[in-house]
Amino acid sequence: MAASIVESGEDAFRKIFKFYKRRNPPPDFTDVIDFSKDVLSNKIVPAKLDPAAVSDVEAAKVGLKPVIDWRAFGLQGYPGFIFISNPFLLGSRPFWVRQCLKTYPQKPNVCNLDMHMPPSDTQDIWGKSIHALSCPPSGKREQKSLLERLRWVTLGYHYNWDSKTYCAKNYTPFPTDLHLLSFQITAACGFPGFNAEAGILNYYRSDSSLGIHVDESELDHSRPLLSFSFGQSAIFLLGGTCRQDPPTAMYMHNGDVMVMSGQSRLLYHAVPRIVPAPQGHTILEMEGCSLASSLQDNTVVERMSKQDWEVCSKYMQTSRVNVTVRQVLGPGQSFPETPLIKPRTDAGQLAGYHNEPADRESERMRKSRSCDSVDTEE
Ligand code: OGA
Ligand code: MN
Repeated sequence: MAASIVESGEDAFRKIFKFYKRRNPPPDFTDVIDFSKDVLSNKIVPAKLDPAAVSDVEAAKVGLKPVIDWRAFGLQGYPGFIFISNPFLLGSRPFWVRQCLKTYPQKPNVCNLDMHMPPSDTQDIWGKSIHALSCPPSGKREQKSLLERLRWVTLGYHYNWDSKTYCAKNYTPFPTDLHLLSFQITAACGFPGFNAEAGILNYYRSDSSLGIHVDESELDHSRPLLSFSFGQSAIFLLGGTCRQDPPTAMYMHNGDVMVMSGQSRLLYHAVPRIVPAPQGHTILEMEGCSLASSLQDNTVVERMSKQDWEVCSKYMQTSRVNVTVRQVLGPGQSFPETPLIKPRTDAGQLAGYHNEPADRESERMRKSRSCDSVDTEE
């Protein structure tokens, strides 16, 4: 199929994106790589990690298993791409989920809701949502809670969706716990000294998708890009350097981590579909309050309250949260005096917008941001 698309000059990535996004009839998922089980295939190669770069104690502090126990893979034809199948210690994912839902959306971080309402309304998204999320669904709740309307949060250098740039002035401190987690993972992948400077959190509902794009706004592309998945699963498409290259489809499950580095740092990618977590992966509920006893005292991963966990697990039953962490500047590098606004070379270069036909607010947002052609031309 791929060859005929290329010959006819069609956009191979877009065609496969639409294939996996299709609802009726649902697509055939047999070609989707599942790193949680398919380890014996000629496309999947073991990834080389550096276990000496991160001690077991340092790993445990951020809720990670010893590096020696990580299941890390590469993909034939994608040098620099590393997929780590859930390296988290049992009981630590709930902490990171709570950070994504309760802590990171707080000020001074920026979120999509700030574009529509005054800061006083977005001051306490968690506090304003827990009642609605704790109550059994009545079926006739008038408005979605703020947490259910949250689509993205930016951290550190706040990504400007319109100009597609970061700038020195639009910066707030990057969360130290997430920096530490990213630092340890990148070190184990052979990138010591990673400096987490910008983060984008994407909040997906079951009908969300993320358009085809390349993350190229960072000024130093020699540093890897890190991506974490929590909650429901997703289909991730990893393409090439142009949209004629047909992408490879893979599942991302709860706790999976992806590192895009080297030649894979600037590849097209997208999330056409959210899929229910497979049976056995939805152990979040059980994990919540049984925070692993293996965690030491001086860890960044704290035990959480039962109420926090009830809200998180309820939300995650129908949602996926993705965290991408980026280093924007190389060592000693600074932003140019006058920001360089790159001319658009391709319709599909905007990161981080979701297309949800059912959600009017995000539809409006999508239109207000210049957007990827993939979803608008359907
Ligand atoms: C991004 C991104 C992918 C995902 O935010 O740039 O590509 O897994 N996210 O949601
Ligand atoms: Mn991306």
